[in-house]
Amino acid sequence: MKILVIHGPNLNMLGKREKSIYGEKTLDEINAQLKKETQALNVEVVTFQSNHEGALIDFIQEQTDSAHGIIINPGALTHYGFSLFDALVDSKLPVIEVHLSDIYHREEWRAKSVIAPIAEEQIIGLGWRGYITALQVLVGKLKVES
Ligand code: DQA
Repeated sequence: MKILVIHGPNLNMLGKREKSIYGEKTLDEINAQLKKETQALNVEVVTFQSNHEGALIDFIQEQTDSAHGIIINPGALTHYGFSLFDALVDSKLPVIEVHLSDIYHREEWRAKSVIAPIAEEQIIGLGWRGYITALQVLVGKLKVES
């Protein structure tokens, strides 16, 4: 089972960026924690980060046929990324949306997610552990379906 873990704009800056909101861990450290978790779950994870919406879409299109599900933190694209939304719909894969912070209790504009309508679950405000929860939830759902 292959799961795509996609990180959007500015998430390459984790570990330096607004640590009181996003935590201390770097993106590499988060990806390493996810890889560790794959051993227990017996799945493969492919991680990808870009600051460019088109690059995220290219990655989704390239990987869709060989993947079983998507975990995505779209960064600020969450709030206006309609092309990304369309690419996720076209993939027909189950999507779990993750946010390190609680987007519903920050600036008003962050409370709107254009991705949420097609996400099977939204995991918010759990910091880096939210990605682990997302992986467990997604794999659990896929195993129930198979
Ligand atoms: C974020 C929340 C977004 O509003 C923000 O633009 C990010 C990170 C989060 O993980 O909490 O880049 O997606």
